[in-house]
Amino acid sequence: MSLLIDTDPGCDDALALLLALESGLDIVGLTTVAGNSTIANTTRNTLALLEFLDRDPPVARGAERPLVKQQDTAEFIHGESGLKGDLSAPSGEPVDVSGAEFIVQKAREDGNLTIAAIGPLTNLALALGIEPDLPDYLDEVLVMGGAVYAPGNRTPAAEANLHADPDAASRVLQSLDPTFVGLGITVRATLDPATLDLSGSRGAVVEEWLEYYPDHVRRRYGINHSPVHDAAVIAHLTDGVLTVEERALEIDTREGPCRGALLSDEYGVTEEPENGRVATDIDVSAFRDALGGAIGSAL
Ligand code: BDR
Ligand code: CA
Repeated sequence: MSLLIDTDPGCDDALALLLALESGLDIVGLTTVAGNSTIANTTRNTLALLEFLDRDPPVARGAERPLVKQQDTAEFIHGESGLKGDLSAPSGEPVDVSGAEFIVQKAREDGNLTIAAIGPLTNLALALGIEPDLPDYLDEVLVMGGAVYAPGNRTPAAEANLHADPDAASRVLQSLDPTFVGLGITVRATLDPATLDLSGSRGAVVEEWLEYYPDHVRRRYGINHSPVHDAAVIAHLTDGVLTVEERALEIDTREGPCRGALLSDEYGVTEEPENGRVATDIDVSAFRDALGGAIGSAL
């Protein structure tokens, strides 16, 4: 499997990338997108993270803003720069094609590419605009997004990645047969830093990523540690930690309180054909082993 990761680091993105890089997946490159912070910050954070981990897959700078709606970012969760942990400024640069062009290039080259999209879906929607036959070149598209089995975290109805660019998400759903790994599942993907040996300088940074959620938000979820949402997608690729089921899906793109909500026809009431998948369960212990093992080998 060849993998491209579309990301907006983001503390949970950083741990997802650490897991992907440490677990020997064949990563053809990373594309960045504005989401948790601005595109300048998410691109800088991606490059800084790669240098922190001594890795060098190519990085393409992606979309600066959503297709239609106003941008909203989440520094209040992930830190002022979009990534807690104060990494050194990177010396590396992104490649000289856009994120969307890079996705098309790598998909055409590979012919059977897997994409893990762990930020807003703007780059993928733009890639479909460049190459309408993109689905022919892809094996699987896994998205961290949606809140089928939980309230939304950006609005009562919508999860942050889909809310950030609902029009792009809808476009992706129409064409790419995606699998959505949503909040009801990823909120269980936590890892207690006390179970790890985090002594040493890199360990302190990783601990900040593992504990990035403010206390009051954790309390509301009833969890002790921070959900590492995006790493659940990668742990599925490395260790098959998710249960996934076919569903008829829709994304609400209308203006109003449900904009960006993922609707999943759980009981077949619409009689619409299945057009994607949702994760319905996670093996939490396998998730913790996968992420804990990757952190252990990275430090
Ligand atoms: C998603 O939104 C972002 O804040 C996280 O990085 C994750 O991709 C969770 O809703
Ligand atoms: Ca993310």
